[in-house]
Parts: sequence; structure tokens; C-alpha cells
Amino acid sequence: MLTGKNILIGITGGIAAYKICELIRIYKKANANVRVVLTPNALNFVTKLTLQTLSNSEVYVENFEIDEYKPEHIALTEADIFVIAPASANTISKLANGICDNLLLSTACAFNRPILIAPAMNTNMWNNPFVQENISKLSNNGYHILEPASGFLACGTTGIGRMREIDDIFAKTVEILGQKLKGKKILITAGGTKEKIDPVRYISNSSSGKMGLALADIAYSMGAEVTLISTFKADKGYRTILAETALEMEKAVKENLADQDCVIMTAAVADYRVKAPAEQKIKKESTDNLTLELVKNPDILKDISKMERKSIIVGFCAESENLIENAKIKIQNKGCDYLVANDISRKDIGFNSNENEVYILDKNLNIQHIEKDSKINIAKQILERVFE
Ligand SMILES: Cc1cc2nc3c(=O)[nH]c(=O)nc-3n(C[C@H](O)[C@H](O)[C@H](O)COP(=O)(O)O)c2cc1C
Repeated sequence: MLTGKNILIGITGGIAAYKICELIRIYKKANANVRVVLTPNALNFVTKLTLQTLSNSEVYVENFEIDEYKPEHIALTEADIFVIAPASANTISKLANGICDNLLLSTACAFNRPILIAPAMNTNMWNNPFVQENISKLSNNGYHILEPASGFLACGTTGIGRMREIDDIFAKTVEILGQKLKGKKILITAGGTKEKIDPVRYISNSSSGKMGLALADIAYSMGAEVTLISTFKADKGYRTILAETALEMEKAVKENLADQDCVIMTAAVADYRVKAPAEQKIKKESTDNLTLELVKNPDILKDISKMERKSIIVGFCAESENLIENAKIKIQNKGCDYLVANDISRKDIGFNSNENEVYILDKNLNIQHIEKDSKINIAKQILERVFE
């Protein structure tokens, strides 16, 4: 099931660490390659020798006494998934705050593929509000959390906090690496276009590009071949193209359209551009009144939706009133397959926020409501709906 997959296991200082010996065995049985990194505290619970023997590989703990510089935290990120189990309250809280004071944490910080964590701790620790806040932070940033179960705990009490069974961790790994979008090509646009006035000034809008970036990241982690066309520079593991203006975006979209299974247009493309941007910086002394003549930009979503095509086309719309009614008119006018509607009158979601709440309309005007959630989780649900 996991043939050829490279799995990095991270073990932290909890009693459940001994169970990971069995997890290594079943990963290996499923033909995965396994490497293990431990926090120094985890060494109190399991030995390097056992883990080395079971994984048939070197086992890593921070070691600064090395002869030559080997950035192990970067080399270790070359795995398909990082499974941190058991995940202690301490490590969870450090992960959620970007702390990198051991090799496991530095590796997680540099890891740009799926991370699965299986927390295990005493019930009061699990219920601690700081721990809960940190769990939410990780979940909202794309971490997969296998929430602990209730049962008898090593500390002698009964309650929530028990690490999920090894079989559950295995099944979740298979599900994540199942890569539902493997073989799919997805083109995503993101950001607000910048329509030049002169070499240093432009007209733009409040779109942050976060929703498009979340879609691209999630599509990539689900195995898709992603091309992101954005109005800002993005340094990602997938293909990115910079297109700042509506005309540049139109060109980039049309040049990369062939063979795409899906095109998702989250970019806020300006409706108008300056007809004749100045070649040199406009001097304040040159005039008291400056009039800019604007001309209409192409409607990229409408144009590509009307073309003969095999790709699914998903548009986004931002409305400040009558969200659903306007969205219904828009999907019919644009001719795309799905339209994701955001309510921009709300201050708690949408533009520049890390959260969103959307409605997905299809061509038959069926409407699916996705409740307020992180943009990462919204992105996942949009992709699942579109590729249903
Ligand atoms: C016997 C023993 C068992 C422990 N079990 C757990 C546990 O299950 N979960 C947890 O969060 N902390 C547990 N701790 C506390 C952690 O080991 C401690 O918070 C440590 O700082 C974790 O470090 P690490 O996250 O860097 O591995 C335990 C400590 C001891 C002494």
C-alpha cells in the first residue's frame, strides 16, 4: 500500500513512544522506507538501537558534535510525510509557535509536505486551553491531527488523551498519501492584479491571494500537478508564474490552459486598467489635476469558460450584498462550472483573513454552504467537491 513512500517518523517524550516500534514494523511491511527522528527527551522512553534495527536506517537526534556540517533537518524533509507520534503537549505547543530548539522541531518547520500528528497525554494536559489553542493553530495550518481517544492512561487515570491505535495511524497515513488528485493537472490564479499608472504606481484591490495559495498548497499535497499564476512572487515546490497585471494574467492563463483538468480562478482581476500608463514617473509638479482614462480589462473567467474545453472551471466571486442572488447571476453570465461565493461585507472572513466562509454554486444552481473555517480547510473542501 505504501510501496516506495518515504515516511519520516518523529517521536517525542511520552510513554506511548514504545508503540512506535510496532508502527515502524507495519510501515515497513507495507513497503515504505522509514526514517526516525527523536527529541532528546524521547530517548528516555525508547532506544536508538531498537529503532535503528526496526527501521533498518540511521536514527536522528540533534547532534552538534559533528565533524562536517550536515544540515540534517533539511535532508530529513525529503520524505513524503512526517508522522509525529506520540506528540507531547510540549512539542505540539512548540510546533504551533515555530520553535525549533531540537532536530525534530527544525525538521517540522522546514517540512512542506503533509504532517500528521498523534497526540498522547494526560487528560488535563489535553484539555489545557493553551494546548487546545495550539492544536487548532496546527489544524488551521494544514496539519493532520489524529485526535486522542478515551481510555486508560499510563498515569493511572481514565479519560481522553490516549494515543490512537497504531492501525489508525497507519490508515490515516495511507489516506493522506493516497493522493486523491494524483495525475490531475490544476491551474490556480491568485492575488489582486496591479494595473500600472506609471513605473512605480498602480491601481489594485484588497485581495491577499491567501485563498488561492491555500488551494495550490492543498492541491499539491493531494498529489496534483499544480501551476500557480500569482500577482506576487511565490517560492513553492510546485510551478509558479508571476503575472502582475490583468493582461499578463490573461496571457499566462491562456498559454498554460491546454491539458489542465481544472482551472481555479481565485485572482481578483481588475475590471479596468489605465489606458496609457506613463513611461516615466509622473511628477507632482507637472499638473494640479491628474485624470486617468481607464479601459475595460478582458474577462478571463468568461473567456476561458466559453472556449471549447475539457477542463473544469471554477470561478470565485466577492460580493458585498445579496451574495447568493448575485452569485447565481454571475455563474450563468460567466459560464463556468462552479462558482465560489464570498461575502466581503464581513470583517471576520475573506480579504486578508486566514479564515473564510463560502458557498459553492454549480451550473444547476445547487448550493453547498461551507461554514467558517481556515482557508486551508475550505480549500480542501472545495477541491473535494469539484473532484467528487
Ligand atoms: C514517565 C513520563 C511520561 C510522560 N508522558 C507524557 C505524555 O504521554 N505526553 C506528554 O505530553 N508528556 C509526557 N511527559 C512529559 C514530557 O516528557 C515532557 O513534557 C517533555 O518536556 C517532552 O519533551 P519533548 O516534547 O521534547 O519530547 C512524560 C514525562 C514522564 C517523566
